[in-house]
Amino acid sequence: MKMIAPSILSADFTRLGEDVLTAVRAGVRYIHLDVMDGMFVPQISFGNPVIGSLRPITDAIFDVHMMVEEPGRYVDEIAELGADIITVHTEACTHLDRVVQQIKSCGKKAGVVLNPATPLETLEYVLDDLDMVLLMSVNPGYGGQKYIPYIDEKIRRLRKMIDEKGLSTLIEVDGGVNVSNIRRIADCGADVLVCGSAAFKGDITRNITELQEQLMK
Ligand code: DX5
Ligand code: ZN
Repeated sequence: MKMIAPSILSADFTRLGEDVLTAVRAGVRYIHLDVMDGMFVPQISFGNPVIGSLRPITDAIFDVHMMVEEPGRYVDEIAELGADIITVHTEACTHLDRVVQQIKSCGKKAGVVLNPATPLETLEYVLDDLDMVLLMSVNPGYGGQKYIPYIDEKIRRLRKMIDEKGLSTLIEVDGGVNVSNIRRIADCGADVLVCGSAAFKGDITRNITELQEQLMK
């Protein structure tokens, strides 16, 4: 089953809890939380206290995308605060295997994120241990950017790698996903589609309903 994961980066931060609940009431199971440190990516977004504040308001799956240098420094606390899936950038981890094992030892689902230009071969030795691979379809750091076309082929290749190994690892795609391209991206093999501006800009309920309709076609 294909799912959307609304990214709260594009929500209205003055009413963040309400926006999250509106998305959940529209039927989403995932909430995507973009933690940015101003080092790995230029912008600072939000961090642990925001995750902790949102946790009690919903049972939705908290999918925490850490755009942070050496994210292992924060994994234990983010796990404690109630993240369900923690994804870390391969480009930000000196010891990727260690961080993946750290996430799993906290009892959380582990994901690795690849920037657009990072080859799939980087996953060779960790793929068997992962619950999710997140392919960036924009250069990370900002919402509202345009989907990079060559990611279609990258998704297809990753789908093939996962299927050939008989794994159940989910493929998530993040950046520039909207109502016009979500179906095509899902057909390339993505399971979880992150939608920031396409979900939260304008009428949230209508946006999510339209995005989900595309996935049910
Ligand atoms: C970008 C973030 C995304 C962002 C997506 O670096 O990782 O999750 O919120 O926003 P849209 O869907 O607007 O491209
Ligand atoms: Zn993200």
